[in-house]
Amino acid sequence: MRVLVTGGAGFIGSAVVRHLVLEKGYEVLNVDKLTYAGTLTSVKNVETNPFYRFLQADICDGQAISAAISSFRPDRIMHLAAESHVDRSITGARDFVETNVLGTFTMLECARAYWQSLEPAGKEAFRFLHVSTDEVYGSLSEDGLFEETTPYDPSSPYSASKAASDHLAKAWTRTYGMPIVVSNCSNNYGPFHFPEKLIPLMIISALEGKPLPVYGNGVNIRDWLFVEDHARALDIIAERGRIGETYNVGGRNERRNIDVVKRICTLMDELHPAGKPHESLITYVQDRPGHDARYAIDATKLENELGWKAQENFDTGIEKTVKWYLENEWWWGPLRQNYDGSRLGLLKTVTQK
Ligand code: NAD
Ligand code: TYD
Repeated sequence: MRVLVTGGAGFIGSAVVRHLVLEKGYEVLNVDKLTYAGTLTSVKNVETNPFYRFLQADICDGQAISAAISSFRPDRIMHLAAESHVDRSITGARDFVETNVLGTFTMLECARAYWQSLEPAGKEAFRFLHVSTDEVYGSLSEDGLFEETTPYDPSSPYSASKAASDHLAKAWTRTYGMPIVVSNCSNNYGPFHFPEKLIPLMIISALEGKPLPVYGNGVNIRDWLFVEDHARALDIIAERGRIGETYNVGGRNERRNIDVVKRICTLMDELHPAGKPHESLITYVQDRPGHDARYAIDATKLENELGWKAQENFDTGIEKTVKWYLENEWWWGPLRQNYDGSRLGLLKTVTQK
């Protein structure tokens, strides 16, 4: 099995690469531009594995992507490369439109040309998995869950660009008959998570005795999934998902942001008592523009149809994650050259004269 993974130097992509190479014994070509969010240190434990190869390329570069596909001849493409941080999308949407929309378009067109050139058996077996987010569905109120049939209603430039890319992927199946499956997952957390996102930012800031900035009043809810559970789900969906279908991925672990931060503080009190009590670092700050109130996934289709189940719950996963950050400064320390921890995504107030 040969799998081309885009974005394999990122958080989820690297977990997918590690899973496919080390657990499944697949041949993997990792195609990644290495933006501020990508680092090859996340795939260090496969870099000398004979089943693993890396190509630095931009998914918007059709020539480079075509050449990579033609020479690697994948049985599957798992497309994860994206600009992924909501706060950055608020102040710099262009990169999101370019990579998430035009980059996905380029991936689909290059994959289509290759797929059409395959002999019938290869054509039949080929799959393209487009990896997306539950944020395309917008915001939930107190009740209800995102289902695969929930209408799209994105709030941020990030989620709007992912929604656009999902629509392209669906259209490429309907119009060209391409064997594409789409997955929409809730918030991930775990090792190798770039420290601009809530959970790693809070762990590292707590370790350093810096303020823990909670947006608004901290009652926004996210549904947390351990990244390795997501990687396994993606492999299963790419292998057995029905063409043209969407699968929602989530671990049924809804938490208010403030409770996530408090849990991290309690774990830090146990594991790094020097800074006790870490809760005293919690600081409420100006809310994110367009902040979605609640996300929650109904993963019944994936569980019943494809037999996936999350192995970690939030309590086990968050403890592993905090311990991992405390033990792996070699990984996150150097990434500060790319991000210094300062607040992202605030609009400048324009005062009218
Ligand atoms: P990430 O930001 O950690 O990694 C993205 C990777 O893509 C990086 O290695 C980066 O270098 C690469 N990349 C960016 N632009 C590129 C380009 N133009 N060409 C080639 N490579 C490029 O993101 P992540 O959290 O690992 O997310 C991976 C995918 O999963 C994304 O499509 C995201 O929308 C989706 N997703 C993420 C979450 C989450 O909680 N993080 C949840 C659901 C879905
Ligand atoms: P984030 O990790 O950016 O993921 P997403 O916006 O894709 O859900 O944020 C998770 C939640 O945490 C979100 O509701 C915003 C909030 N948040 C804070 O309260 N403080 C922070 O410093 C960050 C980065 C996020």
